[in-house]
This record gives sequence, C-alpha cells and structure tokens, in this order.
Amino acid sequence: MIRPAKPSDAAQILDIYAPIIRHTAITFEYEIPEVDEFEERIRKTSEFYPYLVWEERRKILGYTYATRFRSRKAYDWICESAIYVAESARGKGIGQKLYQKLFECLRTQGLISVIGVVRPHAQTVGFHEALGFQKVGVIPYGGYKHNEWHDAGFWQLVLFDPVPTQPAPVKPFPSIADLISLNA
Ligand SMILES: CC(C)(COP(=O)(O)OP(=O)(O)OC[C@H]1O[C@@H](n2cnc3c(N)ncnc32)[C@H](O)[C@@H]1OP(=O)(O)O)[C@@H](O)C(=O)NCCC(=O)NCCS
Repeated sequence: MIRPAKPSDAAQILDIYAPIIRHTAITFEYEIPEVDEFEERIRKTSEFYPYLVWEERRKILGYTYATRFRSRKAYDWICESAIYVAESARGKGIGQKLYQKLFECLRTQGLISVIGVVRPHAQTVGFHEALGFQKVGVIPYGGYKHNEWHDAGFWQLVLFDPVPTQPAPVKPFPSIADLISLNA
C-alpha cells in the first residue's frame, strides 16, 4: 500500500537510502544522516510536499517525495522529485506506482511540472523516460563524489496539457491529502 511517510519511518527509509549514499553517485549526498535528522527532513518536506512510502506487511520497500526546485517566487509551480526502491524490490512496478501517485498529488496541489535530477548515463534515465519525463539539460561536472566528477542531468515531466496560462496558487499537500486515494 502507498501511504504518507511519518517521521517514525526514518530508520526504515534510511535502510533503503544508506547504500545509495555509500556506494553510488545517484545521490550527491556524502554522509549518511542520523535518524533524528532524517525524521526532521520527513517532517519538514511533508509540511508542503507529498512524501510517500510503499509498505508491505509493515516493511517499507520504496519511497518518493517532492521538494522545492528553487527559492524565488516564480518557481512556485515546479518541484524536484526523488524516488528510491529497495534493491530487492526493484523491477516489480513499485517505482512506477509510487511516482504515479506522487504526480496525482502534485497535480491536485496545482504544481505544473516536476524535475528529476538524474545521472545521465545511469539506468535511472530509462525509468524516468518510461514515466514520461523528457531530457531538458545536462550540467557537466555537476557533482564530485567518490573521487570523480559526475554530470547532473535534468529530466522534466509536465503535469498539465495544456499548461494553464494563469496558474492558481499551489496548495500545500496536507490541505489536499484527503482528496487522494492513497491505498491504491
Ligand atoms: C529507478 C527506480 C526507482 C525504479 O524503480 P522500480 O520499482 O525498479 O521500477 P519499476 O519496476 O516500477 O519500472 C517501471 C518502468 O521503468 C522502466 N525501468 C525501470 N528500471 C529501469 C532500468 N534500470 N533501465 C531502463 N528502464 C527501466 C521500465 O520501462 C519499467 O517498466 P516495465 O518493467 O514494464 O518495462 C529503482 O530502480 C531505484 O530505486 N534505483 C536506485 C535509485 C535511483 O536511481 N533513484 C532515482 C534517482 S532520484
């Protein structure tokens, strides 16, 4: 089932995220955060954006969330997404279902588009393109991790067609959460 994350999910979510920090440059984060710091991230993100987990028999197998893209006001309608599925649970459609539910939440809030920041040569591109994202640009030398440079690729999904000429103010996720059927 898909449900909103709670701060108390932090330890389980970190179990999925820690190997990605340790062994890959998929995330540009260097240090594994403490559980209490991660709880605070979940709390803070959830104040405005969706933070969702996939849970089976009380075990979290994947998670996704959105964050603000850039701080200036005109960026209100664009956000950044992140998604991680436990290695043992990949390739079973969990990522796809989590992302689709995230997009439903974002559309209901009134966000217009989502940016996935990915490593352009990584397999993650295949996943994002399968979900409708299109490449918008690549920043060479975007990050330095594990003693080498990595490009930062930006892939975008536009959530509305046509895009409204006068978008309504974006609503915080908690104010629309009841409109989303999260058990799908
Ligand atoms: C990327 C990731 C979230 C995908 O989750 P998943 O549950 O394995 O993906 P799904 O099974 O839902 O795949 C959905 C579709 O995406 C595509 N896809 C998934 N993984 C892919 C890959 N490695 N290469 C190419 N296409 C892929 C396929 O079209 C797939 O549909 P299909 O199985 O019907 O062909 C997961 O592999 C992961 O956590 N990877 C490490 C972290 C990461 O890269 N996160 C993204 C950066 S924020």
